[in-house]
Amino acid sequence: MAKKKSFSLKNSCKYYTKALKYMPEGVSSNARLWRNPRFCYVGPAAAASLFLKRAYGSHAWDVDGNEYIDYRLALGPIILGHSYPAVENKVCDQIKKNGTIYGFGHELELEVAERFHKAVPSAESVKFSSTGTEATMHAVRLARAYTGRNVILKFEGHYHGTNDYLLFSTHPPYTWPHDQPHFQSAGIPSDIGRLVIVVPFNDFEAVEKAVKARYNEIAAIILEPIMGNAGAIPPKPGFLQFLRELCDRYDILLIFDEVKTGFRVALGGAQELYGVKPHISTYAKAMANGHPISAIAGEREVMASFGPDAGQAVHAGTFNSNPLCMTAVNQTIKLLSDGKVFKYLKSYNQKLMSGIEKMADELKIPVKISGVPGMFQIFYTERDEINNYDDIRNSITDFYVKVQYELMKEGVLIDADNQECIYTCYSHSNNDLKRTLNAFRNSMDKAAKSEYEVRPYGELG
Ligand SMILES: Cc1ncc(COP(=O)(O)O)c(C=O)c1O
Repeated sequence: MAKKKSFSLKNSCKYYTKALKYMPEGVSSNARLWRNPRFCYVGPAAAASLFLKRAYGSHAWDVDGNEYIDYRLALGPIILGHSYPAVENKVCDQIKKNGTIYGFGHELELEVAERFHKAVPSAESVKFSSTGTEATMHAVRLARAYTGRNVILKFEGHYHGTNDYLLFSTHPPYTWPHDQPHFQSAGIPSDIGRLVIVVPFNDFEAVEKAVKARYNEIAAIILEPIMGNAGAIPPKPGFLQFLRELCDRYDILLIFDEVKTGFRVALGGAQELYGVKPHISTYAKAMANGHPISAIAGEREVMASFGPDAGQAVHAGTFNSNPLCMTAVNQTIKLLSDGKVFKYLKSYNQKLMSGIEKMADELKIPVKISGVPGMFQIFYTERDEINNYDDIRNSITDFYVKVQYELMKEGVLIDADNQECIYTCYSHSNNDLKRTLNAFRNSMDKAAKSEYEVRPYGELG
């Protein structure tokens, strides 16, 4: 009988050490760095970033030959499965026969715009770019151009990409005052901080108070309708409706950043799930099952503030709506449109979420599963409710990180950071589900008994 390969991250460590020579921090995006002051990396052979070799369907393989059932899914874009044939065969055809970029409009662009319009309740009009960061940057510019005001209200713990206008209070220290914008990066001009108001998510009173105080300066309220960058935290009942009404009362635009939720929690995203229409919404990630494309969509009258004339907002980009990515969007939305994928995801997630909860209960581990089918997170906490960034401060992240490392050994990959989500895709099979639940049981049990240290940032060799 073939001997089971023992788990090792030796090659990931080697690659990471080499990467440090040529790349600051050894990664091309901060979210890939698992050595992190808040969520320390555990394990005897700690790699600071995992290096993957390939991914197919619901599985991924790292450079040490470890195979994982993938629930990180590239931080959300994979909704059908890695290298999903019905998408990639068309993409390959496009590359081989028809070109990858034109720098002009094309027929497929119109087909996708129409499909988008049908899928998303508020998308009367749509424009494409390449990343979520560009989409939210354009959304803010559009709101400022339309309203003639400059201030943006955002929520603590909500992430909208790396553009300077919104990179505030995404992960402030827990001691940081809730009403002061926390600069998340050096290099952002201090004056921009004066154009940002931050309030806790799901706090009706705090939002209303902040809006009443400065409504004639506020261009937009932007939020992740399901907070997906501090675990997965749904809006309280009525919160999204309340924001829309408040915005309408004070002539403020409501922006839903659906970069994570769009084409993941429902075809029409969180706005379909909760029945609330924003003025503007932004999309990326799952809309093309892993290809780099984003969109800004919204009411026709608001979107008409984009344009080439004086007083209009600029929207441009060499790679915008290139036929390669548009092929991927077209196929992905087509495949998602009949609802079969979302029905499957709902059933898979319900079994996974309730299975983990039941197991934790049996092992007497306090746990709160937060989120919705398609994106959720596990908080090891005694709290009954998690409604905002502050509520996750007492969840036991050390235990989360231990379980995460044990899960890797069991062949299940979730992010090492419990402020990311656990994602599922259509390619996750019943066999994956069975293996995952089994892996969770073993990992929670081992983590509860384990004694190895969770070493802080800076102490890793
Ligand atoms: C809600 C949200 N908005 C915007 C972004 C930025 O997207 P991108 O990384 O494609 O620039 C992200 C990225 O994770 C996100 O989660």
